[in-house]
Amino acid sequence: MITIALSKGRIFLETMPILNGAGIFCKEDPETSRKLVLKTNNEEVQLIIVRASDVPTYVEWGGADVGIAGKDVLDEYQGEGLYQPLDLGIGKCKMMVAAQQNFDYQKSIKKRTRLKVATKYVNAARRYFLQKSIHIDLIKLYGSMELAPIVGLSDVIVDLVSSGKTLEANNLVPIEEIGEITSRLIVNKASLKINREVLQPMIDKFSNAVIKINGKY
Ligand code: PRP
Repeated sequence: MITIALSKGRIFLETMPILNGAGIFCKEDPETSRKLVLKTNNEEVQLIIVRASDVPTYVEWGGADVGIAGKDVLDEYQGEGLYQPLDLGIGKCKMMVAAQQNFDYQKSIKKRTRLKVATKYVNAARRYFLQKSIHIDLIKLYGSMELAPIVGLSDVIVDLVSSGKTLEANNLVPIEEIGEITSRLIVNKASLKINREVLQPMIDKFSNAVIKINGKY
């Protein structure tokens, strides 16, 4: 049995066409089903539904052989047992630094005052500001980061920006881009060794589906 870990979050709708393109069709509607283990048209392949940030954990520790996870999640994850063979090109967005319109970011940087940064992407934020030699106080949040500057919890946030509507609705403006985010296929390294004759063709099918759907790679 090959187990594929997915999350129902932001990228779920874009994930289904890729799975279907790879010949994997869910037997139940994952949108409405509350089941966490879903059968597919292939008796040897099942899907499990986990939180986005748990996908790498399931794959690294063998709870799943394969997973689909955003680069944002993978950058935060510290594990080493993951093979990342494929950028799926879905779930595209940007990781950005953002602040309230009236916050003078450049002035704060010039004055070398410590910047209060609220984010759930603490590793990405730490790396980014370290590389820019900007001293920060990191405030870990689990969601609704846009609120932090509004109530004075932080000077800036580091968050994903897709349409920009959430920033706009909360009177925040993007300041700097940290990087492009897309979703990746991840595979348990040991599982790939043991099940290569099944997993390699599956990875190739994913790759072909990505070429068809995104017209690249
Ligand atoms: C993400 C991100 C922003 C929002 C940006 O949250 O954290 O809040 O999407 O999208 P936009 O630019 O199109 O408005 P998500 O919905 O993934 O939920 P989360 O708060 O659980 O991260």
